[in-house]
Amino acid sequence: MPDDYNPATIADVRRLRDTLDQQGKKLVFTNGCFDLLHAGHVRYLEQARALGDAMVVALNSDQSVRQLKGPDRPLNPEHDRAEVMSALRAVDAVVVFDDERATSLIEAIKPHVYAKGGDYTVESLNRVERNALEAAGTQICILPLVPGRSTTKTINKMQSGESNHAGKGLLRLAVLGSGAGSNLRAIIAAIADNKLKAEIAIALTDQADSGFREIARAAGVPALFVDGGDNSRRLSDAAQKEIFEHLERARIDVVVLAGFMRILKEPVISVYADRIVNVHPSLLPKFKGANAPQLAIDEGEVETGCTVHLVTAEIDGGRILAQAKVPVHIGDTAEKLHARIKVEEHKLLPQVLNEWRELGLPVRGAGVP
Ligand code: GRF
Repeated sequence: MPDDYNPATIADVRRLRDTLDQQGKKLVFTNGCFDLLHAGHVRYLEQARALGDAMVVALNSDQSVRQLKGPDRPLNPEHDRAEVMSALRAVDAVVVFDDERATSLIEAIKPHVYAKGGDYTVESLNRVERNALEAAGTQICILPLVPGRSTTKTINKMQSGESNHAGKGLLRLAVLGSGAGSNLRAIIAAIADNKLKAEIAIALTDQADSGFREIARAAGVPALFVDGGDNSRRLSDAAQKEIFEHLERARIDVVVLAGFMRILKEPVISVYADRIVNVHPSLLPKFKGANAPQLAIDEGEVETGCTVHLVTAEIDGGRILAQAKVPVHIGDTAEKLHARIKVEEHKLLPQVLNEWRELGLPVRGAGVP
């Protein structure tokens, strides 16, 4: 095999696009990580290529794959991935790009057709990417997902049976947060002190500059950022999907919501049923939703507290696993009271996680997809 393979440059692809344009032909553009090629990829690429007369594949660089998929990926380095990809009959050129999104490439290449695979809809495409496509006059085509084939599935299959966490009995956690991250810090400390037999596989946030993210980074925990979209309480469809994929890739047992401010929906809620836990600063069912410490003061409560509970589609309505009480002092502000509640949260949450199996709660594995 020649070892002098080199991916195409943007200038090469632009030339290809202009030549096709002059001939009234179409350049198809698609992008992705293509880490471990499988039949699903090949079929998708054949279908995409059939939308035009030549196809360029924009391949995420190693650094951008890490950003998108977490620290264990890619399995294959970008040069190898590009070389394998370029050998496929559907592929005319491969360019490697460094950003999480292909926006700048789309702007530079202005392809005639953009193909995207999977369960996206035009609406759930990243908005910036979609704007770039519309500005370039590119036709957007969503191709159906080839069922039953995925890189994550293949990796999970290879790792099941010999997975080290199963051997160690450690609970694999994903911690999701948007704020200060003190509960994340408490979980990290409990693990370090051997009070919690678990490992944090990923810490995921929708706030790029949060204390949560800083704490994860400082502790060497894989810190992932997902852009949740414009509504600060809701996750866009694309973000819901991205989070689900992160959880699946990291083979998560339990999802811990530690101050995650957006509402999780499908597919996470049903696939992770009874495996998502939240900590809330009140004695549920009292004071559901936002501003619980302030509401306790406003209601003249002499006692409030925190609750660790399972997460269902009903906000703060899932099964209660544990509670701790905290006194409300005369003259308390919401901030003072919340700080006092957090002291209890930091003990209660790690404690519940450590007792997860004893509580009869499920983990990933037999019977859990
Ligand atoms: C906690 O009070 C928790 O009960 C609520 O959000 C807060 C998160 O705090 N759901 P932190 O980011 O862990 O410090």
